[in-house]
Amino acid sequence: MTLDITTSASESPRSEAEVSEILVNPGFGTHFTDHMFTVEWTHEKGWHDARITPYGPLSMDPASAVLHYAQETFEGMKAYRHEDGSIWSFRPYENAKRMARSSHRLAFPVLDPEDFVQAVDALVAVDQRWVPEGTGEKSLYIRPFMIASEVFLGVRPAQHVTFMVIASPAGAYFKGGIKPLTLWLTEEYTRAGRGGMGAAKTGGNYASSLVAQQEATAHGCDQVVFLDVAEGKYVEELGGMNMYFVYADGHIVTPETGTILEGITRSAIIDLAQKRGHSVEERKISIDEWREGVASGEITEVFACGTAAVVTPVGTLRWDGGEVAGSTEAGPLTLEIRQALVDIQYGRADDSFGWMHRITER
Ligand code: PLP
Ligand code: COI
Repeated sequence: MTLDITTSASESPRSEAEVSEILVNPGFGTHFTDHMFTVEWTHEKGWHDARITPYGPLSMDPASAVLHYAQETFEGMKAYRHEDGSIWSFRPYENAKRMARSSHRLAFPVLDPEDFVQAVDALVAVDQRWVPEGTGEKSLYIRPFMIASEVFLGVRPAQHVTFMVIASPAGAYFKGGIKPLTLWLTEEYTRAGRGGMGAAKTGGNYASSLVAQQEATAHGCDQVVFLDVAEGKYVEELGGMNMYFVYADGHIVTPETGTILEGITRSAIIDLAQKRGHSVEERKISIDEWREGVASGEITEVFACGTAAVVTPVGTLRWDGGEVAGSTEAGPLTLEIRQALVDIQYGRADDSFGWMHRITER
């Protein structure tokens, strides 16, 4: 806890009635809490001027470097309200460490993980009335992000950097509920190559996924699957989720890290599955292994996972000229893992891995 955070409370917070109405059906990413957290960095002063202020638009110089060269990184995490009213986040130090890794890749200064968690906790505590009750798997989605705020058009790491945290009450990311997704395999677009930014959580990766996602939507699919750049053969991940494959003999496979985002949900699932006696392989899995495995019955379940998506079953895989129809129902291990994860997150099951971090008492 090294940040000295000042707080100036909003003079026009949403009324209790408005907040309650929003929390009934918050959707995803459209409503924001009353406050935001900001801290600035310069060479001379290091991280300084940490503050919580009323939520509102930023005033930015049009020559701010982030607007031109996309030097930015962000995180996605959630705070959950437990039945006794207390508020908890899930593995926040993992998000903090991943932001440090992304910062390194984006040539940013690193924000100490302790300071990252302190900033998130402080904002959530100030805006705690925005954390929904846990029923219906609602939560407060938290979006920390770092931008190159220096006013300069030369291409070099910014000398003025801003880290912020905003928060948004969230319901389910997919409107269809726990219904298998139909995926589109893009054979034209890729996400990340060796030495690129695939493992960093940075806006450019999402910008580059959008046209592929448009292609998916045009083919009646929910999400897009990316393959590796080098051979165009191995499954990487979806635009905003990691992938898992369950085999008939009970072992499960997830694509190895390197060019994909190292999902915190992905890593939790490895532990949850191993605890249930499933062996987990982190290895390359080719698109042919997926297609043939589903067709032959050797692969019995496919699912995707992430903070926003939690654990979401995958059904049909479609590509230009064909498809392999997966299950129309979520598989049993998918549902079991999903339940085990959300039970820990909402405090309904023993937190035997020590994943939960308490933010407020009640
Ligand atoms: N892959 C991508 C590209 C993502 O955007 C996300 C979401 O954050 C994930 C995977 C899953 O990561 P996590 O489980 O940490 O949310
Ligand atoms: C998350 O799951 O936190 C993400 O950032 C992914 C995005 C699709 C919302």
